[in-house]
Amino acid sequence: MNRVDGKVAIVTGGGSGIGRASSRLLSEAGAEVVVTDIDGDAADETVAEIADAGGSAVAIQHDVTSEAAWETVIAATLENFGSFHVLVNNAGVGGGAQLFEDTPFEMWRQVMSVNLDGVFLGTQQAVKVMRQAGGSIVNISSIMGMVGGANAAYNASKGGVRLLTKSVAVYCGSNGLPIRVNSIHPGYIWTPMIEKIASYIPGGTEQDVRDLLTPRHPIGRLGEPIDVAKGVLFLASDDSSFMTGSELVIDGGYTAV
Ligand SMILES: NC(=O)c1ccc[n+]([C@@H]2O[C@H](COP(=O)([O-])OP(=O)(O)OC[C@H]3O[C@@H](n4cnc5c(N)ncnc54)[C@H](O)[C@@H]3O)[C@@H](O)[C@H]2O)c1
Repeated sequence: MNRVDGKVAIVTGGGSGIGRASSRLLSEAGAEVVVTDIDGDAADETVAEIADAGGSAVAIQHDVTSEAAWETVIAATLENFGSFHVLVNNAGVGGGAQLFEDTPFEMWRQVMSVNLDGVFLGTQQAVKVMRQAGGSIVNISSIMGMVGGANAAYNASKGGVRLLTKSVAVYCGSNGLPIRVNSIHPGYIWTPMIEKIASYIPGGTEQDVRDLLTPRHPIGRLGEPIDVAKGVLFLASDDSSFMTGSELVIDGGYTAV
C-alpha cells in the first residue's frame, strides 16, 4: 500500500470532500501531507483525522487565489519537509445556479479566480521547486471541463484547467523537467459542493439532488470522495510513471453516453 512512501504532498482545498479524502488516502499510502484550505479550521480537522489514523500532516490556512499565500505555503512546506513531490490542485468553487444571462461578472471572475488562476499559481510554484528532483502535479478538473453544462463560468474554468494541464505537461517534457502533470475529471461526487444543489431547488432535499443526478451516471450511483482519491493516489505515485498531459475520467460513465 505504501505507494507514495517518503513523498511530500500538498493538497489544496483539503478541508472537505475530495480534498479531505485525497489527503487521508495519500497519508495512508505513506506520504507526509500538507493540507491547505481557505477554511483553516476545516484543514485542521483533516489533519486531526490523519493523526488519529497514525499519519503525519500539517494544516495551513491558504487562499489559492493569492500568489503571496502560495509563496508562504511553499516556504512552510520546504521548511518542514525539505522538499515536496506531489501537488494536488483541488480547491474549487461551484458558482451558483443562475441563468447565463443573469451571471454577474463578479461571479464569473470569482469562479475563474479560484478554479483556474489558483491552479495556474500552484502549478507555477510547483514547477519551480520540482524542476530538479521531479514530481507529480494532479489538477482536479471535472466532466464539466470536457462537455457542456449549465454553469458557464464553472465549465470555462474546468476546461481551462484541462488545457493548462496539457500545456505544462508538454512544457516540462520538452524541456527535460522530470515533472508529470495530469488532470482528473470526476462526475458528480457526493460532497458539500453537490449537497448545496438542494438549496437551488425550491423546497429541495438531498434526496431530490440524488434523484436528479444519479440517472446521468450509467453505473447507477453518484461518486464518493474516495472514488476520486484513488485516482489522485494513482497519478501521484510512480504507478502512473508513463502518464503526463492525460485526462483521468472518474465519472461512472457520465461522458460515455
Ligand atoms: N463534487 C463534485 O461532484 C465534483 C465534480 C467534479 C469536480 N469537482 C471538483 O473537485 C474539487 C473539490 O470539490 P469538492 O466537491 O470536494 O468540494 P467541497 O466544497 O467539498 O470542497 C472544496 C474545498 O475548497 C476550499 N476552497 C474554496 N475556495 C478556496 C480558496 N480560494 N482557496 C483555498 N481553498 C478553497 C473550500 O473551503 C473547501 O474545503 C473542486 O475543484 C471541484 O470543482 C467536484
